[in-house]
Amino acid sequence: MIENEPSVSSAGLAGFVHEWPASRVVFGPGVISVAASEAARYGSRIAVIHDPTAQSAADRVTADAGGGVCARIGEVVQHVPVHAVGKAVATVRDARAEVLMCIGGGSATGLAKGVARDLELPLVAVPTTYAGSEMTSIWGLTEGGRKTTGRAATVRPRTVVYDPELTLDLPTAISVTSGINAIAHCVEALYAHGSSPLTRLAAAEGIRSMARALPSILERPRDVGARGFALRGAWLSGWSLEVSTTGLHHKLCHILGGLLDLPHSPLHTVLLPYTVAHIAPATVAETRTVLESLGITGPVTDAGGLIWDHHRLLGAPTSLAGIGMREADVDPAIAEASAILADRALPPRPAGPSDLRDLIRAAFNGDRPAAC
Ligand SMILES: NC(=O)c1ccc[n+]([C@@H]2O[C@H](COP(=O)([O-])OP(=O)(O)OC[C@H]3O[C@@H](n4cnc5c(N)ncnc54)[C@H](O)[C@@H]3O)[C@@H](O)[C@H]2O)c1
Repeated sequence: MIENEPSVSSAGLAGFVHEWPASRVVFGPGVISVAASEAARYGSRIAVIHDPTAQSAADRVTADAGGGVCARIGEVVQHVPVHAVGKAVATVRDARAEVLMCIGGGSATGLAKGVARDLELPLVAVPTTYAGSEMTSIWGLTEGGRKTTGRAATVRPRTVVYDPELTLDLPTAISVTSGINAIAHCVEALYAHGSSPLTRLAAAEGIRSMARALPSILERPRDVGARGFALRGAWLSGWSLEVSTTGLHHKLCHILGGLLDLPHSPLHTVLLPYTVAHIAPATVAETRTVLESLGITGPVTDAGGLIWDHHRLLGAPTSLAGIGMREADVDPAIAEASAILADRALPPRPAGPSDLRDLIRAAFNGDRPAAC
């Protein structure tokens, strides 16, 4: 049952703390041409960590740096295994690098953050997906099936170079799930306890940008304008994630991702309609903003189902079974999520063991979330 929307006077009582993170953003088609000089602002010996698909961008930076690139690491693994960070730290230390650059998706950024954290080196990020990690001080490491995350200002990239031309070959299926991953950051920033008015504006605009971009990318994957809009949404989503706190949605993604090694952005994509359906009764105004920003017309009571419909239109995965979870994984996943989350009373709407069981079971099956 949906409660009434808060009145102006009660909404006006909401307090917040807004801390402005310092990062320099260079945005536009072709700006890979300034990536080397951006890195040179922080040091003359550059170590480049790049996704295998970003080979030519790394070659371009190496040529532009005129001998300044002292190490290149072209192998990255999802979820940042601890052993991969140890290996990369040794390479970067031996090369006596003064600045790090990462070119790639969240996996390349994550590996570079792991190195930046250990060696306390400045980082310049050149993202090629919509993950948003490049704007945050959040690091994550995986060991023995458990993902550990934390925040440290030292890992937040000093400069972020957003060049839509680097994303033209991002496959459409990954573009959609990565874009929905960005939308999920914005949705949680809207809900987050203590979100500032500015965070809410950025988060809503991030959803709008991505929602406008994705259908165009499906029609014309190499349209630089559409790619630019998506990357703009990714920037706003990463910023929103950085200045807010995460809730049920992200925590469930981390638990299931760590336990079952499910792919990051498809997992966010599948879970979002279900976590929205759970939280909507406690966040009527924010959920209305989510629907409006997505361009969806319909009642807040059916928000989860409407978002699920929207994902189907985009050809996105809609069930955990469809992204690699097995029937035998369902009960252990419910047990793990309940053990970690059931006593946490996460705002804005706590999820007890029966909520978590219903949510994970429905997401496994891919049932359209029920209206509340
Ligand atoms: N710390 C944070 O704030 C934060 C935020 C979001 C995500 N993450 C982390 O990021 C990781 C996921 O990042 P992701 O979703 O970007 O996945 P990813 O970096 O693993 O990339 C997904 C796939 O896309 C390919 N790819 C990347 N860019 C491409 C391009 N331009 N063209 C063609 N192919 C390309 C990669 O080779 C890979 O196969 C996870 O480990 C997640 O935890 C961290």
